[in-house]
This record gives sequence, structure tokens and C-alpha cells, in this order.
Amino acid sequence: MPIQGKRVLLIVGGGIAAYKALELTRLLRKAGVLVRPILTRAGAEFVTPLSLGALAEDKVYRDLFSLTDEAEMGHIELSRSADLIVVAPATADLMAKAALGLADDLASTTLLATDTAILMAPAMNVRMWLHPATQANQQTLKARGVTIVGPDEGAMACGEFGPGRLAEPEAIFEAVSAALTGSGARPLAGKHVLVTAGPTVEPIDPVRVMTNRSSGKQGYAVAAALEQLGARVTLVSGPTALGVPTGVQRVDVETADEMLAACRAALPADAAVCVAAVADWRPAAPGDLKIKKSGAAQPLELTENPDILATLSQHGPQRPGLVVGFAAETNDVEEHARAKRLRKGCDWIVANDVTQAGVMGGDSNSVLFLTAEGAEAWPMASKAEIGRHLAERMAIALT
Ligand code: CTP
Repeated sequence: MPIQGKRVLLIVGGGIAAYKALELTRLLRKAGVLVRPILTRAGAEFVTPLSLGALAEDKVYRDLFSLTDEAEMGHIELSRSADLIVVAPATADLMAKAALGLADDLASTTLLATDTAILMAPAMNVRMWLHPATQANQQTLKARGVTIVGPDEGAMACGEFGPGRLAEPEAIFEAVSAALTGSGARPLAGKHVLVTAGPTVEPIDPVRVMTNRSSGKQGYAVAAALEQLGARVTLVSGPTALGVPTGVQRVDVETADEMLAACRAALPADAAVCVAAVADWRPAAPGDLKIKKSGAAQPLELTENPDILATLSQHGPQRPGLVVGFAAETNDVEEHARAKRLRKGCDWIVANDVTQAGVMGGDSNSVLFLTAEGAEAWPMASKAEIGRHLAERMAIALT
């Protein structure tokens, strides 16, 4: 077992999911990992120190000002005695304290006093998880290199449904193993990447719109893959039927103008990936009142939308270091994509032939990856795999 003999400091926070920390402890011990537990005061309301200590086969540390604990192992020493610190369940309170650098109990003081890698598995009520404060704390922690596992989506003990459930102990165990063996590398930790996705929706009048068939799947897959490599991701998205990928910050927009404004507000970014199917044109003067059918058909006057990719590619202090565009083509894919890369001023173009069966709205894609150096054909793969492939190439370019 490659993780045998590794040392994990396990902080168990207060929450109904604390019982799963016992199973995690058992899995870690079975793999030969040495587990030293810290149980917060709230955590002790849900699991007993006796259960945790028995499974960990170690003393359970609980009190910052315990003379016996300090005599045995001071809190500074405690935080340095591990290869990895795992917080499971990580409550909203623990995450907020860690993000702010508060240190008013043993768990928070340990998190502040360490330079050891930290993995957090959040668990809380869905509203607490989705609250902007918790989301901002999560982004802060990730930007500092903390690995966040979960939370899962599903029915919760409080009777609500949504993201907030503690990841399953097996999934946390896998993430801990990856972190301990270095296979869960997060090369984009500390980098901010902006991703656009989905269609735009342009009003014609109060009840009618102009839009397109983009599902947003490829853009969301890119955002999720970048997040998995450790990036802080801002996903500026037109309306889609998709859930927000774990750990990603989504900004919802409708029109191309709104999308551009949201992108500008998200800068600075280390990289930008424009996957959105932005409407090239919009009705020039959307009516305040519903257009009536009476009389002859009226032509719809259109005006050009801003080009978000070209705008982000413009040289200037705010230009992301790497700008990637997507190109939807129906013919002469390579020739059109080359011309598009130069015209837009972006660094890379990922071109797809949208006439291929199953690409528009489907789960697969086959693309031509184009840089200043040349073109590579990537074989048909799932949109998730294309996203991972692109994220890996970006990690090489950005690090
Ligand atoms: N794009 C953009 N803003 C626009 C139009 C396109 O950011 N107003 C971006 C898309 O997100 C994509 C790239 O530009 O990354 C190319 O989109 P595509 O629709 O293929 O190109 P167009 O510029 O619309 O060119 P054409 O319709 O002539 O193929």
C-alpha cells in the first residue's frame, strides 16, 4: 500500500455527517494510515471521543488550552505532525474560520498554524452551502491550494434536497489517497480561469427572444475539468439546464452585452476559455410592447453583438495570459479555424465540426486543436474528456 505509514490529522467538525468520519477513519486505518483525530466541541455532540479514538487507535485531541495535551503535543507540533490535514465534515463555520484565519479553538488554530496540505470535505444545509459567504470562502480556500471534496447532491437529513451532503467516505478516502501519493496533483492551484458557456438570449419584444441550440455541456465540462486541476473558475453562462459544477462560481447572464460585462467584471484572470455560443446579432430595437400580427410582416432589424472572445484577446494589461476560443464549423474546419484564430487574436482554437452526429446537444465531440504551432486532431471523445484534455494542456502552458 503506497499510503501505508502516512500520517493524517483528521479534524471532525460538528454536523450530522460526523458519523461518516468514523467510517473514513476505519478505511484509512485499514490502509495502514496513521490517523490522529481532533474533535471539535460541536463534533463531540454527534460522535463520541471514545468511538473516534477507538477506531483511530490514537488519543483524540479536543482542547486548545488543555495542559495535558500541550504537555504531550502542543498545537503547533500537532499541525506539523501530519502529511495531510483532513477536515471531514468541514462545516460552514470551520470553512469560514479557515478562510478568515480565525483561531479560537484547537481545530481552527491547527489550520492556521500549518503549512501542511489540507483537504476539506464540506457538509452542511444546502442554503448554507449555496450562500455567497460560503461560496466565497470556498473560493478563497481553493485559491490557497486547499482541496475540496464534494459536497454531494441529494436528500439531506434536514429534509431538503440539493448540494450539501458529505461526500461518501470511500470518495473522501480516494481523494486522501490521491493527495498522499501526489496523484491528485492540482497544477492550476492559485490560478483564476474565466469560462463562457451556453447560448445567449436576445429579446425581440417582452415575450419573444432570439437564441440558439447550445446546451452548454462542453463549456461546463471545461469549467469542471479546470476546477479539478485546482483552478478558481468563474463560469459566465447563458441559460442552460445544467447544474453548477462543484467548486465553480457561476454568473448567470442572458444577452451578449451582459456576458461581456460579466466577463469584464471577472477580470483579472490567468486564462479565458470562450465556449459560449454568442449570438452574432441582436434585434436593434427590442420593443417595450408585444409586436402585433396586424398588417404585413415587419422585417426585424438587427445590430451586431460585441465579440467577447475578440475583446478578451485584445492586448492590454487586463488580457488573460492565455485566451482559448472554440469554433463551431460546418465545412473546411481547419481552414476556417485558422482564419478565426488570427481574426479573433486568441492563442488557441478548439474547432469542432458541428455537422457530426451527436455533437450539438450531445455528450461527445471530436475536435481539431489549433495553436500558432499547428493543428492536432483529437479523436471523438466525451465532452468531459475533451474538457480534461484541454485543462491539462492549459495547465502545462500556465505553469
Ligand atoms: N464568440 C464570442 N462572442 C461573439 C461570437 C463568438 O465570444 N459575439 C466566441 C465563441 O465563444 C467562440 C468563438 O468566438 O469561442 C467562435 O465562435 P463561432 O460562432 O464559431 O464564430 P463566429 O465569430 O460567430 O464566426 P462565424 O459565425 O463567421 O463562424
